[in-house]
Amino acid sequence: MEKSAREAGQSFVKDLKRTMHCGLLSADHDGREVNLMGWVNSRRDHGGLVFVDMRDREGVVQVVLDPNQASMSSAKDFRGEYVVAVRGTVRKRPAGMANAKMKTGEIEVVAARCEILSEAKTPPFQVNDEDVSEILRLKYRYLDIRGERLTKNLRARHEITRFARNFLSDEGFLEVETPILYKSTPEGARDYLVPSRVNQGAFYALPQSPQTLKQLLMIGGQDRYFQIARCFRDEDLRADRQPEFTQIDLEMSFVDQDDIMAVNERLAQALWKRFKGVDIGEIPRMSYQEAMDRFGCDKPDTRFGLELKDLGTAVAGSGFKVFDDALARKGAVKGIGVETGDFSRAFIDKLTDMAKKAGAKGLVWIKADEAGKLNSPAAKFMSEEKLSRIFLELCPSGKGCGFVVADAFDTVCAALSTLRLFLGAELKLIDASRDAFLWVVDFPLLEFDPEGKRWVARHHPFTSPQDQFLDDLIGGNEAHYGQILAKAYDLVCNGHEIGGGSARIYRSEVQDAMFRALGLSKEEAQHKFGFFIEALGYGTPPHAGIAWGMDRLTMILCGTEAIRDVIAFPKTAKAADLMADAPNAVSRDQLIELGIRLAGPVEKKPDARPEA
Ligand code: AMO
Ligand code: AMP
Repeated sequence: MEKSAREAGQSFVKDLKRTMHCGLLSADHDGREVNLMGWVNSRRDHGGLVFVDMRDREGVVQVVLDPNQASMSSAKDFRGEYVVAVRGTVRKRPAGMANAKMKTGEIEVVAARCEILSEAKTPPFQVNDEDVSEILRLKYRYLDIRGERLTKNLRARHEITRFARNFLSDEGFLEVETPILYKSTPEGARDYLVPSRVNQGAFYALPQSPQTLKQLLMIGGQDRYFQIARCFRDEDLRADRQPEFTQIDLEMSFVDQDDIMAVNERLAQALWKRFKGVDIGEIPRMSYQEAMDRFGCDKPDTRFGLELKDLGTAVAGSGFKVFDDALARKGAVKGIGVETGDFSRAFIDKLTDMAKKAGAKGLVWIKADEAGKLNSPAAKFMSEEKLSRIFLELCPSGKGCGFVVADAFDTVCAALSTLRLFLGAELKLIDASRDAFLWVVDFPLLEFDPEGKRWVARHHPFTSPQDQFLDDLIGGNEAHYGQILAKAYDLVCNGHEIGGGSARIYRSEVQDAMFRALGLSKEEAQHKFGFFIEALGYGTPPHAGIAWGMDRLTMILCGTEAIRDVIAFPKTAKAADLMADAPNAVSRDQLIELGIRLAGPVEKKPDARPEA
């Protein structure tokens, strides 16, 4: 009886070891005998011969098989995604037959023997087909991973991790693992909770970051720590946010803000040199206030202009209620001008919708026609002269279209920053050939949350105020809280926050004052961070740290638009894994064991946001 394909496969793997990767073959291997193992990427029959593109992690090579020979009879049955083994000889393709589009296109492998190692069902999509819905790709992630794009990104991620790990090790940082089953950490998102079986009714929280732990390592005298750390945050997802993500997390003792920024600047320079071959030079610094004023955003994409202009002076006394009211309420009137482009009504309506979605009440536009005559919905509310003055402030050339928003400062910034980013992309103003870095510094320490009517930490409650503001914080001078600046810094690249950190509070009385400013009673502070407050009192070195968003960093270095593309098994916007179907229901027995009874859907409380 003929051996089954499976038995045959086993014998191949047993007596013939793989000697080469398909994708690594080149003309240098001409004449070499090789054993290849991989997937059938495609097959074509040609007058008795079968041409198979065979794929493994390194790429694809063309194999020529003759199924009429007994040792290759199984080639008749090869189908897409079958796993096959081939023994053959590398040869240069005949003159004129080379395929310049293929890395291995100069050669092919002439098979002498082949076997099917495992069969495959018809796949729901072709590997490497770009035109497949993301939902299908995520459900069959392992098939998508076989493709070139994800294979390349996963490898890049590995190399970047390895590079960062070596860089930091060489700088004297120790890699230390910190627990995943832990306690709420203060990064301002919701926690993922894990019920404890042995302590029923009690929960662990998965760390939103190793923040308190790395500070405890400094108190523990470890001087310089890093970790490629998994973090968990239950928050609304976007293209550059996942519920679990990875940080290159680090902390240093006996340093201040500038020292840690210097180490990380060197890391950024080294990464770009290694992975993009470019010198990024010194990274410029910009204060938070300047970033907001000029770009309406604390992580500006500085690869293009379209900066926001303040129109407070230009619109003063315009008589237009929308502007006058905003100024009277100590808000802002700002705008952006676009001097080229065709601004149809439909396009302007789209921009107006966007501004409204971003929180603005409306969008005033002022457009010059061919003859230079101005057109605007606000024209009927003010003199021609005033309208022209405002327009020229935005579009000094007298051409194009200006867009104005009047509202509270933050609302104006949010709306115009959204428009700026959209227009930058739409009008192709972004120079994608370079990466633009920025340190954003001088962040406010505290922010007033009007809904909760309380002060919240802008970074986290362990961030130190700048020295000149210490008295305001310790003295509990609430009237000045809004002006206190922090020793905090974000590393921004192309409009993404790729890292953020701060110099920390290291004296108990300052930490107490911070908790007081955040409205935490002594009991609450004790319940949440008692262990940490206790530790601070046992000799804490001055220390500072930062965490890089590993996924975002890799995304930028790989030139992709979403962090899903650099994560092997990402989650959807609804925080689900479509392949494994997680999260899912658990058995009643499991719940009983944990002492959990499910209530029906609970009505949402208005302030379900946890304390920062
Ligand atoms: P922060 O909260 O700013 O700081 O986080 C640091 C960096 O982590 C990345 N990041 C994310 N990436 C993907 N998905 C997410 N949901 C997500 N959230 C954050 C960002 C961000 O810059 N413990 C402090 C660091 C410190 O003070 O040392 C912290 O976690 O790139
Ligand atoms: P209205 O008087 O409400 O019809 O508004 C006249 C114009 O001003 C419309 O084009 C609105 O989109 C715009 N507008 C209204 N409120 C604002 C605002 N807060 N900022 C900018 N434009 C606004």
